[in-house]
Amino acid sequence: MNDLFFPKKVISWYHQHKRELPWRNTHDAYKIWLSEVILQQTRVKQGLPYYEQFISKYPNIFDLANAEEQDVLRTWQGLGYYSRARNLHKCAKIICTNYGGKFPNTYKSILKLPGIGPYTAAAIASFAFGEKVAVVDGNVYRVLSRIFGIKDDIATGPGQKAFALKAQQLISEDDPDIYNQGIMEFGAIHCTPKQPGCMTCIFHLECEARRKGIQDKLPVKSKKLKVRKRYFNYICIRYNDKLLLRQRKKKDIWQGLYDFYLVETKQKVEIDDLIATDGLVMELVREKAMMELSEEYVHILSHQRIYTRFLTFRVNESEGYINSSDLKDHQFYDLNDVIDLPKPVLISRYLNDTFF
Ligand code: ADE
Repeated sequence: MNDLFFPKKVISWYHQHKRELPWRNTHDAYKIWLSEVILQQTRVKQGLPYYEQFISKYPNIFDLANAEEQDVLRTWQGLGYYSRARNLHKCAKIICTNYGGKFPNTYKSILKLPGIGPYTAAAIASFAFGEKVAVVDGNVYRVLSRIFGIKDDIATGPGQKAFALKAQQLISEDDPDIYNQGIMEFGAIHCTPKQPGCMTCIFHLECEARRKGIQDKLPVKSKKLKVRKRYFNYICIRYNDKLLLRQRKKKDIWQGLYDFYLVETKQKVEIDDLIATDGLVMELVREKAMMELSEEYVHILSHQRIYTRFLTFRVNESEGYINSSDLKDHQFYDLNDVIDLPKPVLISRYLNDTFF
């Protein structure tokens, strides 16, 4: 079957059904970029107020580049994954410094910017500059796999390549931007993951998945063994030749072993973030305790990967720490005695590298 029907129908459907969204009435790459970065974090409804807020605070890329990072983070607050906001800010600065504030205007050059992957680069290149480069996101995988009956696994590199190739073959010659918006919108509001609107679908006749009744099996996405990533920030308080440790009470694989005060975070955080989120760390920094940051230690377990850093603070007195409510289970142990305490391998590796 000739595939030309596809972009034509997508575009005609889009004109009739699209949602009116502010980033759809512009070719301003800055606004399009902003909307795409926000929409990677959240759904359209939740993302809209963030988009409006960003545009009103930073109407153009210079305003964003000149903003304080703290201010950008505050505007991002609630969307999560704060490295995205940091990258946004960093990227704005690069565009202002290296490109005179003008967004690079080809897919290849956009892809070189920090924090911008193939999807976002294709979205900007096509929506802002009309480049004929296909976007491939979750919606596109779903729509193409169902209509064309493609069973390649989207969790694998070769599978993703096959879809990218098909998407690029199908893209409209004349209106690549509208086609790209259209296929994503069709996936978002019609060819939905659950209960797709097959009865009223413009592809009722052509859709392979509907013909075989396998809509809910596509796209194929194999489940990888989930490895949970954890980020441990151990706070090691040193007073002369003593270290502050506690015996773990929690009924887990490390029950009974000794470790330091632990701040676990959902992702790798900057030291400044750690200071801002943990009262004890903030206090240590405020008291100007000497601080040393270790290299990263990675501890690999069957279902977990633990990325660990040790922040050592040298303090000039011990009483305040022993009596602090944050540290009520902790005690100072002489370095010579620490050798004999039972410890997770992770802690032993660090201690051996640093002290013994
Ligand atoms: N999700 C990701 N990009 C989008 C866009 N441009 N419009 C609507 N939803 C989206």
